[in-house]
Amino acid sequence: MTPADRPSSGRTLVRGRVLSFKRPPLGAGDAASYSYVEDGVVVIDDGRVSMVAEAGEIGRLGGEGVALHDFSGKLILPGFIDTHIHFPQTQVIASYGAQLLEWLTRYTFPAESRYGDADFAAAEARFFIDELLRNGTTTAVCYGSVHKASAEALLAESERRGTAMIVGKTAMDRNAPPDVLDSPQAAYDDTAALIAAWHGRGRQRVAITPRFAITSTPEQLEALGSLARAHPDCLVQTHLSENHDEIAMVRRLFPERADYLDVYDHYGLIGAKSLMGHAIHLSPREVARMSESGAVAVFCPTSNLFIGSGLFDYKGLEAHPVRIALATDVGGGTSYSMLETAAEGYKVMQLQGQKLSALEAFHLMTRGNAEAIGEPDLGRIDPGAHADLVVLDGAARPAMAHRLAAVDGDLEEELFVLMTMGDERNVCEVFVGGRPQGVRRADS
Ligand code: GUN
Ligand code: ZN
Repeated sequence: MTPADRPSSGRTLVRGRVLSFKRPPLGAGDAASYSYVEDGVVVIDDGRVSMVAEAGEIGRLGGEGVALHDFSGKLILPGFIDTHIHFPQTQVIASYGAQLLEWLTRYTFPAESRYGDADFAAAEARFFIDELLRNGTTTAVCYGSVHKASAEALLAESERRGTAMIVGKTAMDRNAPPDVLDSPQAAYDDTAALIAAWHGRGRQRVAITPRFAITSTPEQLEALGSLARAHPDCLVQTHLSENHDEIAMVRRLFPERADYLDVYDHYGLIGAKSLMGHAIHLSPREVARMSESGAVAVFCPTSNLFIGSGLFDYKGLEAHPVRIALATDVGGGTSYSMLETAAEGYKVMQLQGQKLSALEAFHLMTRGNAEAIGEPDLGRIDPGAHADLVVLDGAARPAMAHRLAAVDGDLEEELFVLMTMGDERNVCEVFVGGRPQGVRRADS
């Protein structure tokens, strides 16, 4: 274990209303899907949860040298997990008036070209992790730029903070400007070197990351497929069927493949470790193959709305079943907040006559996303889990306090208000490996 990955030593107690999911909720009202202690205490020993007890036991559990953080009345949840976010797009977010392919060319590729500079990338990594933590997100699956240095900067900063991050160097060897291109060999070598240096180093992980079929040659996909076979415990992340022009271009580039998903499948990139960003416009064959392979469809609602991509068919995919995760997709996405992301997800589903209950949404943000990325020790507050926690105060904003005053002790209704109106202002504190991060210090 590296020094910076050291969890907090000794015991820490965090008091509040402790909520953690046991399994996916079947819909609204499924109270058996979660555990909830109204006045509880999370007992943390050496960075991991050892138990959740009633607050009345604090006297017995505490003592000399034990830190007690009292958030009585506030909600304590597992830290949020973002399953798809672009580290080099912090200054691409909120770029006007373009759909996917134009948005990439006009805004995204130029912004990402700067991340070959290690000093710039290091400064941006500090901002990026600060911003995630401010929003209660303690783990994220991140795309770097094409430059290996960008992934290294983010992994190093994450190690310094003690957060668990999964990061890929984005592979792209065609259909973009030269300063954001690599080659099949460079993508293979850089990703292999990152895996050797960082995958499983403390809490850090590396994901194999072909950007999307348009920007990778068959040779590059072949190389990354062989890397995925050599490292079956690494996640593979990419984009799939986000936009109609994109899909048409993939068809022109790979006429011999059955469809978009089949491009990745052909090169050995589809399986239970595959995170498929967007997955909006899928054919019945693609849906069936997603289901059979165990690949995850990553729902990115703010991005799908902002770039005008389309409506993710959550309930249709769930019925097959296809595994589903939730993500911000900053900078196509417009918010770092998983609360705001869930709120937009709810609206996307409303437009299709579907419902996203608060229980399903909060499960997704925590345990559901942890399971989607194969990290069973994240996303839950029970013995053995990493003590990554977010403390939420629904009443932190006057309009929300006023709305919540009409909630008569109904936890699910409170959660629905939190996801519908909430954002980073509702995050009072975040714990990473049992250590408080002081996220509200700057503005308190
Ligand atoms: N498809 C390929 N690259 C990207 C990206 O950076 N953002 C989104 N939303 N879609 C993509
Ligand atoms: Zn994306």
